[in-house]
Amino acid sequence: MSNASAKWTVVAKAFHWLMALLVTCELLYGLRNYSLDMYDPGDGGWYARTIGLHKSFGLLVFALVILRMAWRGLYGRPQFVQTLLPWQRIAAKISHGFMYCALILQPILGYLQSAAFGTKTTFFNLFLLPNLVPDAWQRPYSRTLWRMTQDAHSLLGLALGVVVVVHIAAALKHHFVDHDITLRRMLPGGTS
Ligand code: HEM
Ligand code: HEM
Repeated sequence: MSNASAKWTVVAKAFHWLMALLVTCELLYGLRNYSLDMYDPGDGGWYARTIGLHKSFGLLVFALVILRMAWRGLYGRPQFVQTLLPWQRIAAKISHGFMYCALILQPILGYLQSAAFGTKTTFFNLFLLPNLVPDAWQRPYSRTLWRMTQDAHSLLGLALGVVVVVHIAAALKHHFVDHDITLRRMLPGGTS
C-alpha cells in the first residue's frame, strides 16, 4: 500500500535505520561464524561468549519487523519516484518483500535450530523462551530438524546478505547516478 505523501514517516525511518544497523551486525557476526568451527576450543571461547547476544538481537529484529510491518500496514509508504522504470519497481517490490520475509523467517529458524539442538534461548537473560522441541537431541526427529534448520538459517543468511548488498548499491545509485530523492527522503531529517 502506498500513501499519497512523498515522505517517509519519522517512525518508518527510525525502524529502517535501527533495523539496518541490527541486521548488518547479525550478518557480519554470521560471516565470522561461517569460518568458525563452533566446537573448536582454539577460538578462545568466542562462540560461547557471543552466541547469546546473536540470539537476543535476532529476537529483537523479529519483534521490530512485526511492529514495522504493522506500522506500514496502517500508514503505508510513499510512492516510488516517478522516474523509476517498470522493471525497477518490480525489482524493488520483490527485494523489499524478500527482506521482510527473511527478517521474520531467519529468527524462527535460528530459534528452532537451537531448540532442536537442546540449547536454551533467552532474551538478553531477561526471560527464557519456551521449549517447543521437547526431549531435544534424544530423538532422531530433533536431529533431522536441527540439520534442516541449521542449513536453512545458513543459506537464508547468505541470500539476505546478497540482497542487502544489492539494496544498498541501488540506494547509492539513486543518489549518485540518477540524482533522485529516493535516498535523501529516507535519511533522518531528509524530507524530499
Ligand atoms: C535477523 C536475524 C538473524 C540473522 C540475520 C542471522 C544470521 C546468521 C548467520 C548468517 C549465521 C551463520 C551461519 C553459519 O555459520 O552457517 C548465524 C548463525 C547462528 N544463528 Fe543466527 N541469525 C539471526 C537470528 C538468530 C536467532 C534469533 C537465533 C536463535 C534464537 C539464531 C541462532 C543462531 C545460531 C545458534 C547460529 C550458529 C549456528 C552454527 O554455527 O551451527 N540466529 N546466524
Ligand atoms: C541490513 C540492512 C538493510 C535492510 C534489511 C533494509 C531493508 C529495507 C526495506 C525492507 C525497505 C522497504 C521499506 C518499505 O517499503 O516498507 C527499505 C527501503 C529503503 N532502504 Fe533499506 N535496508 C537496509 C540498509 C539500507 C542502507 C544501508 C541504505 C542506504 C545506503 C538503505 C536505503 C534504503 C532506501 C533509500 C529505501 C527507500 C526505497 C524506496 O523509496 O523505495 N537501506 N530498506
